[in-house]
Amino acid sequence: MSVIISPSLLSADFLDLRKEIERLNSIDDLWLHLDIMDSHFVPNLTFGEPVLNKLQTITKHKLDAHFMVTNPEFFADSFKKVGLHNFTFHWEAIIHHDRFISYLKNIYPSVGISLNPSTPLSSVPDYIWGKVDLVLLMSVNPGFGGQSFIPEIVDKVIALDEIRHKNKFSFQIQVDGGVTDQNAGYLIQSGANNLVAGSYIFSEPNKDYQSRINKIR
Ligand code: DX5
Ligand code: ZN
Repeated sequence: MSVIISPSLLSADFLDLRKEIERLNSIDDLWLHLDIMDSHFVPNLTFGEPVLNKLQTITKHKLDAHFMVTNPEFFADSFKKVGLHNFTFHWEAIIHHDRFISYLKNIYPSVGISLNPSTPLSSVPDYIWGKVDLVLLMSVNPGFGGQSFIPEIVDKVIALDEIRHKNKFSFQIQVDGGVTDQNAGYLIQSGANNLVAGSYIFSEPNKDYQSRINKIR
């Protein structure tokens, strides 16, 4: 499996979004990670469908939406017109997981579940792993960019990779939070094949995002 890098727009310059998107358009093989927060599931509020509907017209990359919201069901239909490639919701946010995954599969090419750092893999029943396209393991507590990576998550990546390997599942393992060139190698060796990075990429002083992405790769 090749590794996908998904820059998180949360750390981009919101006063200069068009240029930020154009900078990313000059780089190949990215997803664009969109952190949708509701100030309820997490203590922060970001952007929603009206903003992303505009943004989709200028990006060339696949849209990777990460819903940190209490009611992801509210967003399933309205985000259809945004042209999302991947819809990830938090396992902790709902109770009817199986039904919601099936619903999303009829709408989106890729469906993901996300686990907070403190949510163990054992909270997901075995029969669910074969139904999702992506599993996002949070390596910070969700809500903000620029937090420090929680190193214990590497063991969780290894355990999830074992589940994937043993059962021949094909879901991607995505890691989100505090990803830099310092930990990307361990994560990839441990089985991650989709890395979200926000502050590490967008803090490049000359806005040479390609150089940061190359370092992660
Ligand atoms: C955090 C978000 C992340 C965040 C990552 O809750 O889900 O996607 O933007 O930012 P960094 O890479 O700065 O930790
Ligand atoms: Zn995210």
